[in-house]
Amino acid sequence: MTAQIRPDLESIPAYTPGRSNPGAVKLASNETTIGPLPAAAKAIAEAAELANRYPDNQSTELRTALAEFLGVGFDNVAVGCGSVALCQELVQITCSSPSDEVLFAWRSFEAYPIVTKVGNATAVQVPLTAGQVHDLDALAAAVSERTKLIFVCNPNNPTGTAVGRTELIRFLDAVPAHVLVVLDEAYYEYVRLTDHPDGVEIGRTRPNVVVLRTFSKAYGLAGLRVGYAVGDPAVITALLKVHIPFSVSRLAQAAAIASLEARHELLDRTDLLVVERERVRDALVAAGYPVPPSEANFVWLPLGARSAEFGEASAAAGVLVRPYGTDGVRVTIGDPHENDLFLSFAAEPEVLARFLG
Ligand SMILES: Cc1ncc(COP(=O)(O)O)c(C=O)c1O
Repeated sequence: MTAQIRPDLESIPAYTPGRSNPGAVKLASNETTIGPLPAAAKAIAEAAELANRYPDNQSTELRTALAEFLGVGFDNVAVGCGSVALCQELVQITCSSPSDEVLFAWRSFEAYPIVTKVGNATAVQVPLTAGQVHDLDALAAAVSERTKLIFVCNPNNPTGTAVGRTELIRFLDAVPAHVLVVLDEAYYEYVRLTDHPDGVEIGRTRPNVVVLRTFSKAYGLAGLRVGYAVGDPAVITALLKVHIPFSVSRLAQAAAIASLEARHELLDRTDLLVVERERVRDALVAAGYPVPPSEANFVWLPLGARSAEFGEASAAAGVLVRPYGTDGVRVTIGDPHENDLFLSFAAEPEVLARFLG
């Protein structure tokens, strides 16, 4: 006889990571293609020498550095084993029964339904607009007395679309102050909107807003697992209570501090990525793909029922991309030669006829 497992776990979809295949170009996970900076690599090597010791469970040095960088207090910052861990911890601190609801747009970051279920709460999904953007009015209208948490993924993974500051503020004004709103800004560094939606700035006067950012994307440390939350001290204190002890390793803390110090170099790279993003999108739009404007490090091809087939065809052409059910395909912006390989596949006359015809 096997041990009894929570029956509701049966309905949790397993997280599907992006495919990888030796020799293929991987544009299926939103990683950066460039390895850590020499300063970060050195910090990692030095930290490894103390691997026999537990890391600082409070991540004091990293939180101090983040607080200084963001112009907030130390008690406004928590760190987690990737920002995805913080997503789960935010459900844990707000929800305590299946009648508690977590609200988010759909399609959005695929971890949201999972962390909601793991937290034994109920997910309420609000469709994106036809333009693949968050429908903030519909999201505000879906708030009920059972709503405990709202995830707003800005820019949205996997569609890349972002909402501006004005719209976001109008939405936050419509949400009751006892509902925690998570502005998930994993791709913040790639945003070039003029009406700039800086969650940390917006959240300064709103204790029910918490912002998530990560070192996994623009800072290039996806493999080390470190992200952070910025919010009201009451929220941060609660997050520290549910934090899995020592889950942010010494290596992750050291690399994050070094990368933050070298941020100018890292953030300069995002300008190059943005140029590449626009080039890729322009080429796809010119070929006939209805790609929405992206503010992230990927683009979205809304191919509906043909998405999986497109993913297979692209893989056969040597480029791994990420299909999402019957909604679309996400393509990460890689190095120019990788993007060129994808573009030459996507623009082939047979491919156009098969997927856009
Ligand atoms: C919107 C969003 N939030 C959070 C994450 C999690 O990032 P990490 O756990 O690596 O910090 C991702 C990663 O893909 C994401 O797309």
